[in-house]
Amino acid sequence: MAKLWEVGSSGLDPRVDAFLSSVAVDGRLLAEDLEGSIAHARMLGKQGILPAASAEALVSELEALRSEAASGSLVPDPKAEDVHSFVEGELTRRLGDAGRAVHAGRSRNDQVAVDLRLFLKKAFARARSGSLSAISAILDLAEGHTATLMPGYTHLQRAQPVTFAFHLLAWCAALERDAGRFADGLARADECPLGSGALAGSGLPLDREATAKDLGFCRPSRNAMDATADRDACVEYAAAASTLLMHLSRFCEEVVLWSSEEFGFVKVGPACSTGSSIMPQKRNPDTAEVIRGKAGRVFGGLVSLLVLQKGLPLAYGRDLQEDKEALFDVVDTVDGCLESFAILVKSLEPNLERMRRAAETGFLEATDIAELLVLKGIPFRSAYGAAKQAVLTCLSLGLRPADLSNSDLAGISPLFARAGIRAEELAAYLDLDACVARRNGTGGPAPERTRDEIARLRAFAAGW
Ligand code: ARG
Repeated sequence: MAKLWEVGSSGLDPRVDAFLSSVAVDGRLLAEDLEGSIAHARMLGKQGILPAASAEALVSELEALRSEAASGSLVPDPKAEDVHSFVEGELTRRLGDAGRAVHAGRSRNDQVAVDLRLFLKKAFARARSGSLSAISAILDLAEGHTATLMPGYTHLQRAQPVTFAFHLLAWCAALERDAGRFADGLARADECPLGSGALAGSGLPLDREATAKDLGFCRPSRNAMDATADRDACVEYAAAASTLLMHLSRFCEEVVLWSSEEFGFVKVGPACSTGSSIMPQKRNPDTAEVIRGKAGRVFGGLVSLLVLQKGLPLAYGRDLQEDKEALFDVVDTVDGCLESFAILVKSLEPNLERMRRAAETGFLEATDIAELLVLKGIPFRSAYGAAKQAVLTCLSLGLRPADLSNSDLAGISPLFARAGIRAEELAAYLDLDACVARRNGTGGPAPERTRDEIARLRAFAAGW
């Protein structure tokens, strides 16, 4: 296929030609390329750079190409060098000289930069709203479980009693930050590189404000050299995506653990689990595992984008053509993971009995023994020692702390008598629901707090 440029008369080696072509990848930007070209052609006409009739012919042919592309009847020629030369070639084939005029005042360097921004703005917005949908799905599950007791863990060892809703809200807290990162990335990506030319703008009287506005950007980019060489928006998307996938993979790991026979806290519903081809009894949490697995691939995309640009001198270098494959893969992976994660959360069937029973063993109320002593004036470290002794005694007697008698307490530590703590008071204080209910400070697991937090997050997830 004829090139837009000519270097010597012998032409590219066909193998190198195929090697350099990016159309198989950037053909995906056809709609964005047409959109950018429409704004550019319209501006050329308004500025008198092209005769009004040529500009009009260009705009209407580009619009025709756009609807053909949308219906699938126009697909980039695989022999084209890239999507930009394909579009210019197509215009020239259909319009002759008017087609040859479209590239005045622009370069493929600002063209590809604007295409990417248009693509990324949509991707950022989708990832943000996908994160909000994931939050909503979690809230739907959390709603009914503000009083559902479960063990909270540190080091994967039972630590203190919490509720299922509280644990789920921890996931939401992370996803809220993710949504914020996508929104921030979108705001920074919202500058239009069109009119930056190859690296130094154009000597033609372009109206960059007009094209920026036409394309829905909040302003034109500030420096033509930076605008054509910069791929920060790709990196920012991939970085936000990596943090998101890091979170999703942690949550999915919990789903995998919780759905094991050993935990038995949840069942993954049929919409998201698979059986085994050999073991008829199996119900595997594949959706959670695949999301967990996708994280590595997204981190890889981020690293590719960073290494691609490291040490690259200003301005454009053809190396940058490699950005798209990594970016598209990251974007598709994020879209897919967010969609399936929300479905996975909806499919979870919690087993309240298993969670409560797990919270009842492992002395999750041990800290509260010490805290009751502290409330009665005992220094924390001494109280901690007495509580630890109480746990050891319970272990040897096969009791729970709430079952200790007054004489057990006297044998454990004189601090209980000094603090005036009687067995009944201790038992009431160590009731697991009471332990959770009194943790009602900001950020705590008390049902009143988690209900407020659910309401706050509902409002957040509903807003732009
Ligand atoms: N296919 C190229 C890319 O994706 C478009 C820009 C080509 N610019 C150039 N000067 N060869 O980056």
